[in-house]
Amino acid sequence: MDQFPADFRWGVSTSSYQIEGAVTEDGRGASIWDTFSHQPDRIGDATTGDVACDHYHRYAEDVALMADLGVRAYRFSIAWPRVQPTGSGPANPAGLAFYDRLVDSLLERGIEPAATLFHWDLPQALQDAGGWTNRDTAARFGEYADLAARALGDRVRLWLTLNEPIIHFTLGHLLGLHAPGVQLLDNPFPVVHHQLLGHGLAAAAIRQHGTGAVSIANNYSPAWPVGADGTRAGADDSDRAAAAVYDAFHNRLFTDPLLHGRYPDGVERLPGADLDSIVLDGDLEVISAPLDALGVNYYNPTGVRAPGHDGPLPFELTQLSGYPTTAFGWPVVPEGLTEILVTLKQRYGDRLPPIWITENGCCYDDGPGPDGSIVDTDRITYLDGHVRALRAAMDAGVRVDGYCLWSLMDNWEWAEGFTKRFGLVHVDFDTQGRTPKASYAWYRDLIARSS
Ligand code: BGC
Ligand code: BGC
Repeated sequence: MDQFPADFRWGVSTSSYQIEGAVTEDGRGASIWDTFSHQPDRIGDATTGDVACDHYHRYAEDVALMADLGVRAYRFSIAWPRVQPTGSGPANPAGLAFYDRLVDSLLERGIEPAATLFHWDLPQALQDAGGWTNRDTAARFGEYADLAARALGDRVRLWLTLNEPIIHFTLGHLLGLHAPGVQLLDNPFPVVHHQLLGHGLAAAAIRQHGTGAVSIANNYSPAWPVGADGTRAGADDSDRAAAAVYDAFHNRLFTDPLLHGRYPDGVERLPGADLDSIVLDGDLEVISAPLDALGVNYYNPTGVRAPGHDGPLPFELTQLSGYPTTAFGWPVVPEGLTEILVTLKQRYGDRLPPIWITENGCCYDDGPGPDGSIVDTDRITYLDGHVRALRAAMDAGVRVDGYCLWSLMDNWEWAEGFTKRFGLVHVDFDTQGRTPKASYAWYRDLIARSS
């Protein structure tokens, strides 16, 4: 397990709205998450990302924590409304200057910057014009990518266009649990296609400025057929058929167009998937331009059953039984990571670019013990199992170049607010005090041993 390639990039991940705070500083415009988090009853603990980890002011301290950890890569996201407060027009120099400082301080410490352009904080002004339902948003995203890459493309080594378009689509636009909080049940497909088109336009813009690798971070979850008892042994043929449908929806809806240049079969049954009027000539060529890397975010497999008689969907999601769970209730299944990586290789063959794990991690209710130390043994167990599972996939022939753990520090976990802690570093949200947990020392040792 200690054997990783000498140039393997061990890293950590964060995202802008979850850590930065400073939401009105230096000309930043409002994003859909500012709007959403300030609405009543949207966030479990009724908090917002107004301050979050105050990283905007404390980034130097956070970079020092990364340097002490020994990571070689840091995946962060750029807040679009800092760069373009209303989502269009010229760049806001004060907003870009923050990322300029951040990137320089990373490079000074020998840490490769990996920048995500969209981790869900769409400028509110674009949402007011329809957001991702509007094809124009894809063009705006391409322009924003151009501004960001023009400013930072000489130093950013890896660019991720979108973060988890499937989650932004399902939680934000179908279930309404994330911003923008809509339920487009009759016509959701444009949100899929316009995100993908935005990716393609952004990828082309990035290539014009600098030599950084172009990628996208997708969420993958093996779809495991299960019976009513939540076990795989209990599954029957109808559960297996339902799992195949869910697999196409969750794991292939965005990746088939990117790597095969076409939507998976069955997409035309999605409401609003009037392909002829939404997918215009040339779009799929733009979307499927070669990638330099594929970002994989993995947390857990998903248990899938055939729907009951009156189920509205062609599948029903079911809790897997027989596994330990995190504080989110998510099952801890390291071998799911091996499975999804090997499946990607089988599915896409030579078209699969080198993989980066762009997120993997877990939340537990970590708090300081009597002596102030935080002994998060469950997180160490989770991470150890997943790093071994990663190694197993590499041994099976899957090329993986980096692993960015979610997350450097506890942060604002979307609809859960501050109640779900994913960090290697504990954050006291009253004082902003940062305390490395036992898992931080564990990861530091792993990096030192295996690089
Ligand atoms: C997904 C996570 C996502 C979370 C949002 C889960 O269903 O697997 O990746 O971040 O929802 O709360
Ligand atoms: C998201 C992160 C989130 C994490 C844990 C991912 O889906 O990209 O923003 O914090 O999962 O839920």
